[in-house]
Order: sequence, then C-alpha cells, then structure tokens
Amino acid sequence: MPGIVIVGAQWGDEGKGKITDLLAERADAVVRFQGGNNAGHTIVRDGVQWKLHLIPSGILHKDTLCVIGNGVVIDPRVLTDELDELRRQRVDTRQLRISANAHLIMPYHMMLDHAGEAKLGKLQIGTTRRGIGPCYADKAARLGIRVQDLLDEKILKKKIIAALEPKRLSLRPFAKDPRLDLQTITEEYLTYGHRLAPYIADTVRLVHERLDAGQTVVFEGAQGALLDIDHGTYPFVTSSNPVAGAACVGAGVGPKDIDEIWGVMKAYGTRVGAGPFPTELDGELADEIRERGGEYGTTTGRARRVGWLDLVALRYAARINSLTALAVMKLDVLSGLDQLCVCTRYRDPGPEGREYEDFPYHQTVLHHAAGEYVQLAGWSEELTECREESDLPAAAREYLQFVAEFVGVPVALIGVGPGRDEVIWTQAGAGMARAGRAASAAA
Ligand code: GDP
Ligand code: IMO
Ligand code: MG
Repeated sequence: MPGIVIVGAQWGDEGKGKITDLLAERADAVVRFQGGNNAGHTIVRDGVQWKLHLIPSGILHKDTLCVIGNGVVIDPRVLTDELDELRRQRVDTRQLRISANAHLIMPYHMMLDHAGEAKLGKLQIGTTRRGIGPCYADKAARLGIRVQDLLDEKILKKKIIAALEPKRLSLRPFAKDPRLDLQTITEEYLTYGHRLAPYIADTVRLVHERLDAGQTVVFEGAQGALLDIDHGTYPFVTSSNPVAGAACVGAGVGPKDIDEIWGVMKAYGTRVGAGPFPTELDGELADEIRERGGEYGTTTGRARRVGWLDLVALRYAARINSLTALAVMKLDVLSGLDQLCVCTRYRDPGPEGREYEDFPYHQTVLHHAAGEYVQLAGWSEELTECREESDLPAAAREYLQFVAEFVGVPVALIGVGPGRDEVIWTQAGAGMARAGRAASAAA
C-alpha cells in the first residue's frame, strides 16, 4: 500500500498527465489501465513539453516502474515510435513493462473506425480514429490479438485469419489495400514483437510485488468519467471504462488495493468530439477561454468545445468513482473574467421545464438539458506565480470552496499553469501526501 488511482472527472484532457507525473515522484510504479493512443497526456518540465499517448506518465522518473496494463489497447507502431522519441530525448525507458494480455490495435481496426464514422455521417461520434472501438469490440468477441501473440508466428497468423473472417463484408471497400494483406500484417507485427519482447512481462505479478512490499503504486486513467462506456453520455463515449473501478480490472488488482482516488478536473469544462455538453459556450467567451487555455486536442489537434464548470456532472463523476480528492487544474485560465458561472442543475427547455438535480440517465433528456447557473465573482489577477492557497485572490478561493462543498470532495491540488511546478498543494492535499508517505514508511 498505498494504491492511488488518478482519473479524469469530466470529458478527458483534464491534466491527468501532469498529476500522474507529479505523484510519480513519490511512487514506485505507475500503471496505465485502460484506453489506448486515443489518449494524449501532457507533461511540461523545465519548459519542455512531453506528449504521451501509451507510455505511462511516470516515465520521466527513471526509478519508477511503468506498466502498460492488460486493460490497455496497444497500437504497436505508436508504442515503438513513442519509445524511439523518448530515447532520442535521452529518457531511460528500461523500466517500462507491457502486459502480455493487453490487446493490440490492428490495421483493420483503424480502417473500421474510419469507415464506421463515415457511415454515421452527421451522427458520427467524432472518435480519434485510432481503432479503439473496433479493438475493444474484438476483445469482447474473443477475436482479439494480444501482445503475447506477437511472440509466435503461427499463432499470430491463425488469429489474424480468424479475426478477419467475420469482417470481410465491412472491410470490402479496403479489399485492395496492401495493409490488409495477411503476410504483410504478420511480418509487420512480428517485427514489433521482436522490438517489444524485452518489455513484455507478467505485469500483475510486478504490481502485486510492489503493493505487498508497501510501496506506492499510481494507477493512471485515460479519458474521463463522462466518456465511460457504461456511465458516460452513450453512444458519444469511448469504448472502455475510464472510471476508477476499471483500475482493478485493467491492472489486475482488487478493490482493497486502492487507498485514494483522485479526480482530475479543469476549473471549467471542455469536450472534444460530438455529444451532449449542457454547459457549452459559444461566441467570443468560448474563443477567449479556448485561446487562454490552449484548448486544442493533444492527439488530434482538434479545437476543444468549451463551457462553464458543470457541477451536476462533476458530482456524478465523484459518485461513480468514489473520489477522495479533487485536483482542480487550469484555474489560471479563468483570470480576467468578471463573473463566473457554475452549473448546479439542468432544466428541460420544454413547456414543463422539468429540473434535474442529478445527472439524467436518459439520452433524450441529456441532449436537450440546459444548465442553470449560480454566478460567482471572478478575479483579475494572474495566478501563475501563486504557490500557497493564501496567495490566491479571495474570489478564486471562494470558487474552489463552492466546488468542493457542492461535490463533497476536498480539493487537494490546484493547477495554476502548465509547468509541473505550477501547482498549489492545499492543506488537505499536503495531509494526504504525508499520510501516504507515512503508510509507505510503516509497511
Ligand atoms: P490529460 O489528457 O488529462 O493528461 O490532459 P492533456 O494533456 O490532454 O490536456 C491538458 C492541457 O492543459 C495540457 O496542455 C497541459 O500542459 C495543460 N495544463 C495542465 N495543467 C494546467 C494548469 O494548471 N494550467 C494551465 N494553463 N495549463 C495546464
Ligand atoms: P485523454 O486521456 C478527450 C473522445 C473522442 C470521441 C470519443 C470516442 O487525453 O483525456 P475514441 O477514439 O476513444 O473511440 O473516441 O472519446 N476521446 C477523448 N477526449 N481526451 C481523451 O483522452 C480522449 N480519448 C477519446 O474525441 O469523442
Ligand atoms: Mg489528453
């Protein structure tokens, strides 16, 4: 012990990479447990920006074991490119381990992702087109190719044939595409297997060894609660479970191995891709927040939709994750706005105007819901230099207090800039850090 889970509490891109890198400083292992290279996690250190898609955000700490867990879907081309890039920048990657049970994204998964979106036309989800959905679909259909299959040519070929068979019709438009040739795929994937072999391991055992020794393990989530395939705004979601419970399944630990669950959130809202976003803003205010916050996707470069902070959705995220702490990122972006709105309920715009205190389960309600707001005072001061809660303007402190009270979860950390040092540890957060260290030391 302890095990600390880090999850996105909104629609992704909350700053999970930065928080994971920060907590990894005190951790012995960091484990990614779901998603794939649809994720883009940013770390900014000494002015240098690192963008990670598959490799855990603990990789810059050379003594921290970094695990890609069984719940992740891996595009081996992206993973080998990421390894090359890190090495080029002189980052030691020898502490990386990859679960032999993780599933692989194959060329046909990417084709099916593209084709699926094209077919949906105006109704498209706005996926990252990285093949995530089709790969998880094959996993559930028991037609997946796993990391361990890369180590045996005969098995690999057999499994690719079996996986391609039921897809013949949907892959017909790509029939002449050389990327679909059985021999080509097999050779390409065997090459990846050769490259990745030194990293492939029984990662469940590695994680348990550390937990048993009382060491700290950070479980790094991707995406966010509202993109969860079960609990999010289905069908406008990703194909995995970004909620904390999935850390157990995707890393091979039990619920008792988890001690803390950190929900990472922005001080406002963003969403990339289609789907309901009840607090969405448009016009000049949206542009201003987007520019100040640099709200362009880390993976696809798409402009992110922006909106006011949605406390109805956030309280729901706190419940389904059992959050024990909030990390509120990008508070600095809100400087200069006279008034801030936070959404505390939804209203159906229909004639009856029904109100919703809780996040509605019904898709139609969610699509039409409009936010009802409480207005809070803004502040004009820049926050980037603040390092203590007392350095913050009173209005910023009141904003944070309103959030913590409404959601019922303490704020442990506040982000005031992209850099890893641009944070404020609150009293609650410092207490948790001390308790974590004490638990590790006592074990
Ligand atoms: P992730 O997917 O949750 O890891 O988040 P992303 O990396 O996709 O997006 C978060 C963006 O916000 C990145 O560009 C970070 O460098 C940046 N960022 C993180 N924390 C802060 C903060 O407190 N203030 C500002 N201004 N930027 C931040
Ligand atoms: P991180 O880990 C933000 C969104 C896509 C799309 C939907 C489904 O960086 O927070 P997919 O390719 O997963 O089938 O797309 O999910 N999406 C993300 N949005 N951050 C992410 O990851 C995301 N990963 C997927 O934009 O709306
Ligand atoms: Mg991201």
